[in-house]
Amino acid sequence: MVVDLEDLSLWTGPRAAVDEAFAHLRAHEPRPFMQEMSTDGSRFGGYWALTKHADVVDVSRRAADFSNAKGCNVMDMPPDLTEYFGSIIAMDDPRHARIRSIVARGFTPRSVGEVGEQAAILANELIDDIAERGSCDFVTEFSALLPLRIIIDMMGIPRSEERFIFEATNRLLGSTDPEYIPDRSRKGLRTALAQTGPALGNLVKELAEDRIANPRQDLITKLIAGDANGDNLSPQELASFFILLVGAGNETTRNAISHGLLALTNNPGQRRLWQNDFDKYAFAAVEEIVRFASPVLHMRRTVTADGVRLGDQIFDEGDKVVMWYYSANRDEAVIESPHAFDISRASNDHIAFGAPGPHFCLGAHLARREISVAFRELFRRLPDIHAVGEPEFLRANFINGIKHLQCEFTPTRLAGKHPSTTGA
Ligand code: HEM
Repeated sequence: MVVDLEDLSLWTGPRAAVDEAFAHLRAHEPRPFMQEMSTDGSRFGGYWALTKHADVVDVSRRAADFSNAKGCNVMDMPPDLTEYFGSIIAMDDPRHARIRSIVARGFTPRSVGEVGEQAAILANELIDDIAERGSCDFVTEFSALLPLRIIIDMMGIPRSEERFIFEATNRLLGSTDPEYIPDRSRKGLRTALAQTGPALGNLVKELAEDRIANPRQDLITKLIAGDANGDNLSPQELASFFILLVGAGNETTRNAISHGLLALTNNPGQRRLWQNDFDKYAFAAVEEIVRFASPVLHMRRTVTADGVRLGDQIFDEGDKVVMWYYSANRDEAVIESPHAFDISRASNDHIAFGAPGPHFCLGAHLARREISVAFRELFRRLPDIHAVGEPEFLRANFINGIKHLQCEFTPTRLAGKHPSTTGA
């Protein structure tokens, strides 16, 4: 069996084919060399694809041997663009540690707790908009909007910018999909990306200038002016971090929620189990949704010196290694019955938020909270909501994206405002 992870048609088809491809690699060729594909379809360069859980864990931990500074996407970009679009995910320590310690101010347990309460209100707002209709596009009308509204509220960005940010992140993370960038020529792609990044960056730079003069209780103020005696982000650092955040925080959580509804629809027994005792299964169900979805399909690292080893393999400086989380999270050596969606697993050692290491997902607690609140409110307000038809997958191999997913439910009449919730 020949597996080509760079052939994007693999990712728009049923996930059974992806599962079969990775199972084959794990069993027969766990670190294959994949040639990169350029925009015109020609092949060049390439990377070592890591498909085993143990390799991904090893590489994530060894930051001195496997660097982030050349970017986390397979394709090389000029260094200034890598940092502009990548922020901390495209840095090594000590710069990474400095900026991460500042941005972590926005992700303390207290901040995440407050956001959890707000998430319930926002989820109900979105459910209000669809409840009487009996059907909707679950992605564009619920799962994509919830994390987006949470982030823009956290940052203190006006709701009027929501549409712009939604479309901009679709273009940045879905740049390989013609639905988001129809002009597929090299020039068309470059122009679309060159316009989108700075437009996002300028939006927060303007807000940052305002917050320096008029501080508020929002994340922009905390990052730009939050520590009077210590270190804050410069407006440029804030702009780059925002570009990372809208991608890292939106595209991931939205796809976890979308894949979650799909998996619950396809596994009615698991769904009944969770719905009959939400709190008992919430923790494990969210972990299983995140494992099953593996919304970030991979991250790249670059080998820092000749002779760096991984098991019996010896690399050269500059070699690219790509950690396929989707495959690691289905590695039979670590996950029992990996292709089953099972919310009552005794152990679930998934690494969908990254394996332990300096770049472990900063928003993992927030994401878990958002997913839990989303399903709690959906089950409460629209208890028979389920996916119908086939999902429309994103044409990409970086984000495990669902662009559209139709869903149906018994319509409910809104009698005034929805009943208040109990918090997350
Ligand atoms: C289900 C949802 C999510 C998944 C699956 C996910 C996954 C990941 C992964 C795989 C990484 C890279 C880990 C590594 O390279 O070692 C990462 C990094 C990151 N994530 Fe998430 N993420 C999610 C949600 C979020 C949210 C909600 C936020 C913030 C609002 C967020 C912010 C970040 C940031 C800032 C980084 C970079 C950390 C660093 O380089 O130090 N993520 N995430």
